[in-house]
Amino acid sequence: MTSLGKNTAAGLRTAASSDVDEITGHRRMRRNRISDWSRRLTRETILSVNDLIWPIFIIPGANIVEPIEAMPGVSRLSVDKAVEAARMAADLGIPALATFPNVEMEHRDQTGSYALEPDNLINQATRAIKAAVPNIGIITDVALDPFTDHGHDGVLRDGEIVNDETVRTIAAAAVHQADAGADIIAPSDMMDGRIGAIRRALDASGHQSVGIMSYATKFASALYGPYREAIGTSGLLKGDKRTYYLDPSNATEAVRDAGLDVEEGADMLMVKPGLCYLDICQALKETYGLPTFAYQVSGEYSMIKAGAAAGYVDGERVMMEKLLAFKRVGCDGVLTYFAPEAARLLAKGYSV
Ligand code: PBG
Repeated sequence: MTSLGKNTAAGLRTAASSDVDEITGHRRMRRNRISDWSRRLTRETILSVNDLIWPIFIIPGANIVEPIEAMPGVSRLSVDKAVEAARMAADLGIPALATFPNVEMEHRDQTGSYALEPDNLINQATRAIKAAVPNIGIITDVALDPFTDHGHDGVLRDGEIVNDETVRTIAAAAVHQADAGADIIAPSDMMDGRIGAIRRALDASGHQSVGIMSYATKFASALYGPYREAIGTSGLLKGDKRTYYLDPSNATEAVRDAGLDVEEGADMLMVKPGLCYLDICQALKETYGLPTFAYQVSGEYSMIKAGAAAGYVDGERVMMEKLLAFKRVGCDGVLTYFAPEAARLLAKGYSV
């Protein structure tokens, strides 16, 4: 500890005695900050391993760990390696995984039909992880972008991402995901009416206990870049996703949109990306009171990694400070590629 950090009550008095007025003397905010024990005692927000959801990327094959260039420290994993990762995560106490596939080009088409294959890559991963590590939650993303040859989240017809046909496809895909053992279905496509359609499809197929975490407010953000490299859509995507994702300017619309998901039966809400949209996190939690999560997306992750690698910032401290920020505004947890790293630090008693 530095001599400043060790500042004692006595030291504070000498330093500040003569040049402050009487009133200030009664309102010294610094008293509670003087020592480590009093800072711990007065700490309002605590980040714990129970707040972490770990997104992982799956590729076909066996025994493959393929680093993702734009996401230092993150790799695409074959199903057997994903099982190992799941075991490690469970041992660290991480409650849940979110899985994303990178499938071969031959499985990608205009309508994302591979999403409807009961034994597609994402469902193979769920089956394998559930069999080997039954005590970790599995959250599956149900958008079509990993399966379309144009990288959009929906069915493309005459230059348009068509809503209702997309919703029918993802509701059917959600049932396959639940059949494979997914605990929570997380639609990330922002089509209208998808939460209700998925809920009805799950209930009709006996999956009343499978939950829905809605990517309720997903913004048309520049921060998804590295993820698109991770699932192999960056070279495919033509145009952008502004006709279905939210405009980053619109907070009121975001709250209204999330409200529809709540009415349609969402069990949990998510805000994506995270840090630029802390106002939305706070608003959703206060307005609806549902379990609310932030997705610290790939761009947020990679910028911290790049800053740390360049030596501009202390990567560990920045990581933990940003994760804590989500908790402070009222989120119940965070989807973060840092989950294992953060979990290890927390296990050592780290606090910001
Ligand atoms: C799309 C989807 C995206 C992410 C997960 N699912 C965004 C996109 O490519 O438009 C982004 C995750 C990240 O950036 O970490 N269904």
